[in-house]
Amino acid sequence: MTRTLVIIPTYNERESLPVQVAAVRAAAPDVDILVADDNSPDGTGLWADECAAADEHVHVLHRPGKAGLGAAYLAGFAWGLERGYDVLVEMDADGSHRAVDLPSVLGAPGAWDLAIGSRWVPGGSVVNWPTHRRLLSTGANTYVRLMLGLGVHDATAGFRAYRADTLRELDFSAVESQGYCFQIDMAWRVVKAGGVVVEVPITFVEREQGQSKMSGAIIREALIKTTAWGMKERATQVRRALSREK
Ligand code: GDD
Ligand code: MN
Repeated sequence: MTRTLVIIPTYNERESLPVQVAAVRAAAPDVDILVADDNSPDGTGLWADECAAADEHVHVLHRPGKAGLGAAYLAGFAWGLERGYDVLVEMDADGSHRAVDLPSVLGAPGAWDLAIGSRWVPGGSVVNWPTHRRLLSTGANTYVRLMLGLGVHDATAGFRAYRADTLRELDFSAVESQGYCFQIDMAWRVVKAGGVVVEVPITFVEREQGQSKMSGAIIREALIKTTAWGMKERATQVRRALSREK
């Protein structure tokens, strides 16, 4: 049987997390959950501990302070790989990633290394997002496509499943992304390593409780890093072309 771990990073998600954990448990009863909490001041970590004490499928990774989504996921991946899970899943705590879509992400067709729950493929959608968030997401994805030539429609998606063996081949210590560009970074690394990425449509529903941690710093980091990766890729392509001409 495939052992699957859903990693849920949290920072101040006391209202949302219990709903999301219950939804995941109901939609996929065999799946384990790891909450990766960055010492949330609102008591999210305490609730997660209580939940873990009552449910053997729930685990908690306490981190000392807010250090970004990327760092929380890398720590969660390491935790899951050490314990021999076969598939590691990323999901937000706030209900935007609907647990009812989890089986279709896990059941994505083909032999994938990374299965992305995508908002921007036919059948995918976003509910209750203001225009500026839509534009940010579609704009970011267009920029990623142009800069990296990545054939992924939703490269910033935070609902995705990785095959553990695929993650094992990646060098986590080289991943510097802190904010949401971690998602682009990881998709790019999987593709560069020759991995297969598939996208399945999901419905992303904007949170009803708590607040988004999206910020200007997160947008700047994504823009700067994507540009730098793109330039480096171009330089490599030019060098290769020149060495062929000689
Ligand atoms: N541990 C930890 N540390 N968790 C964090 C941190 C952090 O520094 N920052 C955010 N999170 C958690 C939140 O608590 C939530 O569970 C999840 O990461 C997503 O954060 P949101 O703040 O709700 O993100 P969003 O809704 O604005 O952004 C969505 O779209 C992005 C762009 O497409 C998410 O789906 C992102 O994953 C996605 O990259
Ligand atoms: Mn959210």
